[in-house]
Amino acid sequence: MKIRTCFYAVLACQLALVASHGQSGPASTTPASDIPHLQRQGAVTRLIVDGRPYLALAGELNNDSATSLEYVRRLWPKLVEAKINTVLAGVSWNQIERQEGKFDFSVLDGVIQGARSHNLRLVLLWFASWKNSLSSYPPDWVKKDFDRFPRARTKAGRTVELLTPLSDANRDADASAFAALMRHVKEVDGREHTVIMIQVENEVGMDGDSRDHSAAADAAYAGPVPGELMDYLQQHKETLIPEFRKAWEAAGFKTTGTWEEVFGPGAATEGIFMAWHYARYLDRVAAAGKAEYALPMFVNAALYGVGRTEFPPSGGRPWDLVMDVWKAGAPRIDILAPDAYGNFTEFCAKYSRPGNPLFIPESLNGAVGAARVLYAFGRNDAIGFSAMGAVERSNAPDTDLIGSYDLIEQLAPLISEHQGNGTMSAVLLGPDDPPQKVPVGNYTLTVSFVKPRVAPLTQPTPIPPNSFAAGIFIAAGPDEYFVAGLGINITFAPNTPGLPLAGLATVEEGSFVDGRWVPGRLLAGDSTDEGQSIGISWPPGSWVPVYRQRSSPDAIQRVTLYRYR
Ligand code: DGJ
Repeated sequence: MKIRTCFYAVLACQLALVASHGQSGPASTTPASDIPHLQRQGAVTRLIVDGRPYLALAGELNNDSATSLEYVRRLWPKLVEAKINTVLAGVSWNQIERQEGKFDFSVLDGVIQGARSHNLRLVLLWFASWKNSLSSYPPDWVKKDFDRFPRARTKAGRTVELLTPLSDANRDADASAFAALMRHVKEVDGREHTVIMIQVENEVGMDGDSRDHSAAADAAYAGPVPGELMDYLQQHKETLIPEFRKAWEAAGFKTTGTWEEVFGPGAATEGIFMAWHYARYLDRVAAAGKAEYALPMFVNAALYGVGRTEFPPSGGRPWDLVMDVWKAGAPRIDILAPDAYGNFTEFCAKYSRPGNPLFIPESLNGAVGAARVLYAFGRNDAIGFSAMGAVERSNAPDTDLIGSYDLIEQLAPLISEHQGNGTMSAVLLGPDDPPQKVPVGNYTLTVSFVKPRVAPLTQPTPIPPNSFAAGIFIAAGPDEYFVAGLGINITFAPNTPGLPLAGLATVEEGSFVDGRWVPGRLLAGDSTDEGQSIGISWPPGSWVPVYRQRSSPDAIQRVTLYRYR
């Protein structure tokens, strides 16, 4: 063990040495536009890395995988094999600041070097004050000094192992460690841009009660709603999240008063109160980090069950319902990101808002993830999708997810070109969902879930639970489409004036190689149901009989249409 630590320490020094050579020159004057950043264009916000739109095809490591170089080293080749281009990796406050004010970035340097040498980008997850609500990542000197670094309390007076967001001492200790981290990342990576985004904390939110009942919190809750929040709400009154606006309206749209006077009594208001204080805290932490190195920063949210109650108590979590409070309180947080495990399409819609591009730090892998990826990029102009525990939670390579990541990688230039202008869309269909009509460009596509035919005297193939078909459709020209996906059937109908009927002119199967279309088979006859529709098979190895599985390595079809009467 001792020998290994020395080895990595030496490596880290060398790295720092190399980087500092690189940095002391022009890099420190690197304009913000050169470092990874978000770029808003019309209704779309893109992530720009090295001057080009970047789609993150990501996987999140298990929480502590990146705290040991020996452990993470064997993951890099698996991540590359999984067609992942971006790795979400945790950075533990306790690991980098064991002693107050003394920082050790040797493991982080090794992680950055490991990713870089495998041509992978990194999103660092700052596990600090909070992780899944609770405080397991602060250093021992914080944990042990609970007078200096106070905890939250429940109404019943129970102390929760959760740093209260209403303590300046907690906030400032976190912010200064985060500033040190960002200063160091700039030093060792300010030119190479292996690190492209930062998640600040992880799934924050009150635990054990709907708000903190510490003395500081009780005093603040009994006090007036801050003017900054009320100013923001009044300025954005017409564009507020409907459920939030309704709650404020129900209490009379007051512009001054206590939290309960302005938003009404109850747990939902306690959640609004907590959202404000978490937002203020994280804004300070993000500001300290951005002052050193202004990479895009986001928070991730543990979500709620859609459709249960209209305005469930959030405990301050960065839910879409309190997005306005977060945007008012944390302008330095660029994105609120859903950890979308359930209700996928609903949360994609709820989090894709003007000024809040969709980034999914955590979702499912396997066949479900493979379908969801196409939907997130094609329907909601996502900047990234990440499967939680991507290569660590399945022994065998995840061929389903690999297939979809490969598709998006091939289509990436087209996707970036067609985001936000009505010439791209996608569907995600369960076996019982009716066919969906999707307008894309000059035609409306009718897309249905493909079920295996039932041959005479045979039983229908049982459809496994959680089976999803999906497709992404790009109108590359007035009568030209690129379509791809899994298990769908597509028909086309014109949606512009002119000849009423649409026919399939030429249909090619093929792939994009370095952005160039390379056609394979020319499809007609059985392949297009005698010219009636486009069929996109299920991936090889999926639940359907072989004849319904894709036989060709080419997974994209280029479809040209003509109109007639
Ligand atoms: C969501 C959290 O954000 C992750 O860090 C992890 O704890 C998963 N839940 C469960 O593995």
